Amino acid sequence: MTPSDAQGRADAQGRADAQGRADAHSRSGTQGRAVLCVVGARPNFMKIAPVIRAMKAAAPPLPVRLLHTGQHYDPQMNAQYFEALGIPDPDINLEVGSASHAVQTAEIMRRFEPVLDRERPAAVLVVGDVNSTLACALVAAKKGVPVVHVEAGLRSFDRAMPEEINRVLTDQISDLLFITEKSARANLLREGVADARIHFVGNVMIDTLRDNLKKAVPARETLRARGAPPDWAERGFAVLTLHRPSNVDDPAVLAAMLGAICEVSRRAPVVFALHPRTRANIERFGLGARLTDAAVLQIPPLGYLELLGLMQSARLVLTDSGGIQEETTALGVPCITLRENTERPITVEEGTNTVVGQDPARIVAVADEAVRTGGKAGRVPELWDGRASQRIAAALAAWLDRGAAHRHAA
Ligand code: UD1
Repeated sequence: MTPSDAQGRADAQGRADAQGRADAHSRSGTQGRAVLCVVGARPNFMKIAPVIRAMKAAAPPLPVRLLHTGQHYDPQMNAQYFEALGIPDPDINLEVGSASHAVQTAEIMRRFEPVLDRERPAAVLVVGDVNSTLACALVAAKKGVPVVHVEAGLRSFDRAMPEEINRVLTDQISDLLFITEKSARANLLREGVADARIHFVGNVMIDTLRDNLKKAVPARETLRARGAPPDWAERGFAVLTLHRPSNVDDPAVLAAMLGAICEVSRRAPVVFALHPRTRANIERFGLGARLTDAAVLQIPPLGYLELLGLMQSARLVLTDSGGIQEETTALGVPCITLRENTERPITVEEGTNTVVGQDPARIVAVADEAVRTGGKAGRVPELWDGRASQRIAAALAAWLDRGAAHRHAA
């Protein structure tokens, strides 16, 4: 059986299931048609898990179908998240894989269009800011299928970031926009998005965090399993993730970052979970030796429950990820963001985040202070209470019942 035969069968079975569910729970605005949820890359998985659960738990349930573009495909970036987070197997997988931004985005669009024609969903729901988000939103919008964007309105105001382009464009063509913090509403209004389309619901990433805190793998266990020296758990350690093109694609910048990390590791040993892009670039630029003598443990990308356990117990976290800035704020753990800006200002204004940029001296100074003083304290932002997905399901159901088809009136 070829992959496309298997896909065809899975699709047919999935459609039959969806039809069954739809018949059982018809909603007036959708004639029982499903909401097609899209994921593609790792940060999408933590966001979609609670949304799907809340949609299924709504009364009556919202029929849902899950499409994976295949943007991330390594088991360490992909399958282990589905399992840990209890995400159902995707009904459809476009299997696009890696390529340049243009090719990846175009390929997702090309493969998504016939799926959309077949599925005829009531709406397409996208999350976050990755290439899969924009590609699927664009295809849907051009076909007149309503687009729902979860985590809308965040802005770094840095158009050199591919994610910023994805955010701005996705929001422009979305019909229903769910936001995580109030700054997002101001951003959207400034860009001409109608207020009635914007719903402040809180943060689905934090729903997932709260759902999984009890299941987090204890740091001590992960450190042991990954071969860290036995005293790291007592000494206190830092966690590092690094994958943005602006940090890892330029040899001089990456070398400077690794130099700063070596310095930080003299204050607290560092657990460095390596994204495939970062690992490849360290090898390609011949920078591997920089870390060998330092107290830096280099490990493959961690599973969600392992990373959560490590972050919970860490003295500080250094990262260029968006989601980790939010998770550390929710956990109350100091976060040093290795970027010049953040699209999540509430993590700085209210949370534990400090944006330090790429200057090695500043990175070391802020890390040093965090190790000595315990770092920046913060509070958990409004509506980051674990119930964002329920609010989304309720608002989505009401919107579909009103008839999403009248969306242009909004
Ligand atoms: C993507 C998102 C980024 C997100 C990140 C999380 C965009 C524009 N970027 O970036 O916002 O923070 O995911 O990880 O969508 N690779 C593998 N295996 C995989 C996936 C990727 O080896 O499963 C390697 C490939 O060499 C690939 C490179 O990583 O070329 C980059 O992958 P890609 O999906 O293009 O972007 P990310 O850098 O992961």
